[in-house]
Amino acid sequence: MAPLRAPTMIAAVLSLLSCMQPSFVAAGPVARRSDIIVKDYHKAPRFWSNLGPAPSEHLIHLTVGLSQGRFDELERHLYEVSDPAHARYGKHLSADEVNELVAPTDEASAAVLEWLEEYGIDTEDLTYSPAKDWVSIRLPVSTVEDLLNTEYSVWEHRDGSTVVRTEGYSLPNYVHKHISTIQPTNSWARLEGHKQRKEVMKRSVLNKRTSHALEAADTWGPPSTFPPPDNSTIYAACNFTHVTPLCLRTLYGTIDYEVKAAGVNKMGHTNYLEEGKYTPKPGSGCPESPSTNRSDISQFLGLYRPEAQQYAYEFDAISIAGGVIDNGTNVASEARDREANLGKSSVLRNLSLSQQHPFSVLHAEYMIGIGYPTPLIAYHTGGRNPTYMPDILTTDNSDEPFLVWAQYMAGLPDSEVPQVISTSYGDDEQTVSRAYAQAVCNQFAQLGARGVSLFFSSGDFGVGQDETCISNIDNTTAMFMPSFPADCPYVTAVGATTGYPESAAWRRLSSGLYFNSGAGFANYFEQPSYQAKAVDAYVAGLGGLYDGLYNKSGRAYPDISAIGQLFPVIWNGTTLNLVGTSGSSPIAAAVFALLNDALIAEGRPPVGFLNPWLYKWGHILFTDVTNGSSAGCNTSGFPATEGWDAVTGWGTPYLPKLLEAFGVDK
Ligand SMILES: *[C@@H]1O[C@H](CO)[C@@H](O)[C@H](O)[C@H]1NC(C)=O
Ligand SMILES: *[C@@H]1O[C@H](CO)[C@@H](O)[C@H](O)[C@H]1NC(C)=O
Ligand SMILES: *[C@@H]1O[C@H](CO)[C@@H](O)[C@H](O)[C@H]1NC(C)=O
Ligand SMILES: *[C@@H]1O[C@H](CO)[C@@H](O)[C@H](O)[C@H]1NC(C)=O
Ligand SMILES: *[C@@H]1O[C@H](CO)[C@@H](O)[C@H](O)[C@H]1NC(C)=O
Ligand SMILES: *[C@@H]1O[C@H](CO)[C@@H](O)[C@H](O)[C@H]1NC(C)=O
Ligand SMILES: *[C@@H]1O[C@H](CO)[C@@H](O)[C@H](O)[C@H]1NC(C)=O
Ligand SMILES: *[C@@H]1O[C@H](CO)[C@@H](O)[C@H](O)[C@H]1NC(C)=O
Ligand SMILES: *[C@@H]1O[C@H](CO)[C@@H](O)[C@H](O)[C@H]1NC(C)=O
Ligand SMILES: *[C@@H]1O[C@H](CO)[C@@H](O)[C@H](O)[C@H]1NC(C)=O
Repeated sequence: MAPLRAPTMIAAVLSLLSCMQPSFVAAGPVARRSDIIVKDYHKAPRFWSNLGPAPSEHLIHLTVGLSQGRFDELERHLYEVSDPAHARYGKHLSADEVNELVAPTDEASAAVLEWLEEYGIDTEDLTYSPAKDWVSIRLPVSTVEDLLNTEYSVWEHRDGSTVVRTEGYSLPNYVHKHISTIQPTNSWARLEGHKQRKEVMKRSVLNKRTSHALEAADTWGPPSTFPPPDNSTIYAACNFTHVTPLCLRTLYGTIDYEVKAAGVNKMGHTNYLEEGKYTPKPGSGCPESPSTNRSDISQFLGLYRPEAQQYAYEFDAISIAGGVIDNGTNVASEARDREANLGKSSVLRNLSLSQQHPFSVLHAEYMIGIGYPTPLIAYHTGGRNPTYMPDILTTDNSDEPFLVWAQYMAGLPDSEVPQVISTSYGDDEQTVSRAYAQAVCNQFAQLGARGVSLFFSSGDFGVGQDETCISNIDNTTAMFMPSFPADCPYVTAVGATTGYPESAAWRRLSSGLYFNSGAGFANYFEQPSYQAKAVDAYVAGLGGLYDGLYNKSGRAYPDISAIGQLFPVIWNGTTLNLVGTSGSSPIAAAVFALLNDALIAEGRPPVGFLNPWLYKWGHILFTDVTNGSSAGCNTSGFPATEGWDAVTGWGTPYLPKLLEAFGVDK
């Protein structure tokens, strides 16, 4: 390992603004009454280059986040209703209660309207989120440049994709404190799916296996009348180069559970789909543009969960802002697909084979494979990597897909919101600005307060993919690369394991890259108090290892883990064996969906936001994973240890123990 320096502060960049970015600190027209002050600056990450000014008539769907009136109070509610030691544990908030807490103050709304009017914007054209904390409007670049005192450019990624962005923007002083973030401005996230990869491409059927090859190392024993699953049962059900639903249901103890509250209890997963070209990161080995194909899901379930086979054609797929869903010939006549367009005229596309990707198929196959007959809802949000098209004077509101999705969820009645939702998208934290990351993360807190458990995959390159581990601030300082939104403190981040007893997942891929359970410490989010004790003890145990490469005061992840290595997925009629934390997250979510089923069947609230419970005492119910590490950034990464570690979190779930601990019937 080369000697490495500590990252420098983002604040240092802010003070240099006027020399680095003279264009956007220029004052507005003289008639305006207020000082113009830099609101946010975030340098374009490596691999993006400026092709020159954006055409002034290009349309931008501008989204303005208003400071949420009582977010601190919302956060307090979130922690109270999620803390098993608190009297309000499980007393989740309704959508209306949440929206009331996050609604901007009258003063903030008035100031923002005044600002828009001052710049000649017709406020009749604004559209609002349910809590009125986000306002959107389509405007030409020239107007936005005036409004934000900046200049937009066309930026090109080295993979050839292009976006219209600016690195920073300035606002009149009187609206500063009333605005959280404005987008699209300086968000450069690629929102690439956490990247399951093809290992072996072959047709295959379920293999049962009896083997004595693996050593049992089950030394960990929490107080419970339910011992971990018997190893011979697991060896009989599992082939760890081909992990099927039968194996997972055996390993995580869901196989004997009988679903009782299907319908009231639901599970969801999200996909963020671009409507056109999607170019994965160079070297990532990912094929282009993902989507769901019900025929593949049906084929998978026919093999691995036969009683659920027909359900492949029945689960709800919801298209948000033009997300692509399978509305093709395979859909049964009463297609369940629904469209939710958020005020944007968009055309739903049917699915062409060239647009398919094993990605969302994987989520549906494993969530149904474990959670059936709990209903699944698949949310497909359009526009993941918006591509600037010079001849087309339109844009859409999906430049910021997490925001679009979260606003859609904020408007849903409580009865329609799934109690667990899995997401396997993310990018390096430093590809977005701190303000934007905070605004998105706050949206997730709102769902948590409503009793939703959000699972995010933790990433696939350990502490960072080797060549990317350089700070965006100076383009030279080496640092571990935290992944957003897995590092948001209001979500449960899921790492990857393999084998039995489970180790942290680790595999050399045919591309030459190494897959490793994603892990790290946020720079944008401070350590939440719920994890301080566990994480501080872990950091102390490292004895200075990697000092300067990671932020000890940041939110650490993952929180838990699940199998993420070598599971079969049927895609385009063929079985692929995949690896990735994008498998771990839906698997963990489906296990918790079944715990919720048991709770809801007894008239009790779902588990909701897991982490406060998890770190306080839920962790003793997990199967600790103590072997392996989160190798990356040319290091062997953080080691797995007893207890919490920055590789596999607290380990993997086992439903019988969870049911017992919650005192519910099996
Ligand atoms: C960062 O550094 C590399 C190598 O030193 C250079 O090729 C690249 O242009 C730099 N990028 C930026 C955005 O400064
Ligand atoms: C199964 O576990 C028991 C104790 O936990 C151990 O003695 C035995 O060797 C294990 N068997 C295999 C096949 O690993
Ligand atoms: C495990 O699965 C792989 C396919 O990925 C297969 O080649 C192998 O034969 C299986 N092993 C056993 C013991 O069934
Ligand atoms: C999707 O399919 C359903 C039923 O086949 C049809 O009613 C609906 O119009 C289709 N939606 C689109 C956008 O094509
Ligand atoms: C499906 O898409 C193709 C190409 O995009 C188009 O030609 C075809 O008409 C579409 N089919 C339906 C039923 O919409
Ligand atoms: C480290 O994390 C803290 C707490 O979130 C934050 O204030 C600080 O800016 C971070 N340091 C860097 C270098 O980003
Ligand atoms: C899908 O399968 C068909 C036939 O098996 C094959 O011709 C086609 O190339 C496959 N498509 C992709 C994108 O792999
Ligand atoms: C889904 O995939 C199957 C092959 O597995 C193909 O025949 C079918 O046309 C695909 N459906 C859609 C809507 O593209
Ligand atoms: C521990 O993990 C390493 C990879 O990090 C793996 O090579 C080894 O086989 C694992 N040991 C056991 C006992 O699973
Ligand atoms: C990691 O190793 C790669 C290839 O050996 C090299 O290109 C890169 O500069 C190294 N990165 C760091 C942060 O040392």
